[in-house]
Amino acid sequence: MDAFTYRDGQLHAESVPLARIAKEIGTPVFVYSASAIEAQYDALSSALADMKIGICYALKANSNQAVIATLAARGAGADVVSEGELRRALAAGVPPERIVFAGVGKTAGEMRFALETGIHQFNLESEPELELLNAVAASMGVVAPVAIRFNPDVDAKTHAKITTGKKENKFGIEIEQAKAVYAQAAAMANIDPVGVAMHIGSQLTDLEPYRAAYRRMADLVRSLRAEGHDIRRVDLGGGIGIDYSGDHTVDLAAYAAIVREEIAPLGAELLCEPGRLLVGNAGVLLTRTIFVKQGSEKRFVIVDAAMNDLIRPTLYEAYHQIVPILENATESPHPADIVGPICESGDYLGKDRVLPEVADGDLLAVKSAGAYGAVMGSSYNTRLMTPEVLVRGGDYAVIRPRPSYDDLIGQDRLPDWLSRTERSRGAA
Ligand code: LLP
Repeated sequence: MDAFTYRDGQLHAESVPLARIAKEIGTPVFVYSASAIEAQYDALSSALADMKIGICYALKANSNQAVIATLAARGAGADVVSEGELRRALAAGVPPERIVFAGVGKTAGEMRFALETGIHQFNLESEPELELLNAVAASMGVVAPVAIRFNPDVDAKTHAKITTGKKENKFGIEIEQAKAVYAQAAAMANIDPVGVAMHIGSQLTDLEPYRAAYRRMADLVRSLRAEGHDIRRVDLGGGIGIDYSGDHTVDLAAYAAIVREEIAPLGAELLCEPGRLLVGNAGVLLTRTIFVKQGSEKRFVIVDAAMNDLIRPTLYEAYHQIVPILENATESPHPADIVGPICESGDYLGKDRVLPEVADGDLLAVKSAGAYGAVMGSSYNTRLMTPEVLVRGGDYAVIRPRPSYDDLIGQDRLPDWLSRTERSRGAA
């Protein structure tokens, strides 16, 4: 479902004209569609329905509590990677027994908090992590449910910065060491090794790497069981890609078929950790043109959103479609770079784009910005963090307001030696 369509010549989010949100909330602003998030969740959950797979939404894609709560209301659990994300999941109403705690570097404090909370499972990625969790659980007199994340050494064929399943990546335990590490976990008094986990990368549009990795995982589960381990759970990871360019949608039925063929016969409890798939195409970054600058080589459309609002283009060379708010605006013969006001050449949202004639003040929407957009934002250049809006039907709500400059600048503290009196003494 595309929740962002033109109606009466104007781009809408569901039934709300984006121009109305720009006028009432200002720009830049992230706008999400609740129905699009729900539709994605429902599509995945029905594709996997016969296998009863628990869907743990990877909060890192978009951790606004309104987004988490929208998914939790549908039955989603959560995949969290920090105490902060765990606290957000709980605050948004995700039951602890549907929460999985992943990530390569959990601290003792984070482990303690998660054990107190009573989460479903820890996904552990190294022997030292296993030892630390065992010690923390022992100090609390509890037993921690653990899935061990293995690295299947499969190339996910995605961008180098978001591929995780190769040996040279920092993630998981090499599959050759699996049996030894699993036996070590089983011998620990305060660890209950319940299963295995994997995640080979993000934005996978080719499903074959999943088949290769799941086959290795199933072989591993069989050989661990042959050694007497009771492997009850398999966590399939996340990573299913979305369509950024308008020409390639991942077939969820084909993904489900791979799981059905490779993993379901194990008869284990299954979990998956999708992030981007559920929210990526459910959001846009709405921005206003400040100036149009015609260089001798290029046309630059300078907008009020920048790399601090959406870092994906410059960090991953990621492509996001950029469209005008007014339909059928006359196409310009000159391609343009859509750039932000930040003082870096890397500050762009799109390069060499064919766009309509854009004038100062015109609104543009940067599409597919629902995942890894707001969560990766910063206040670089002392720019205010971008607000977020959630639309449902004809209504919308601000789900994170734009902070004030006082909020932002007021976070700094001057040390005593720079206090106003000291400074004025220095000046005297
Ligand atoms: N599970 C684990 C263990 C992960 O590391 C990740 C993502 C996910 C699940 C969710 O992956 P997804 O379904 O969203 O692909 N900032 C990058 C993406 C980083 C992904 C990191 N791990 C981007 O903007 O493309």
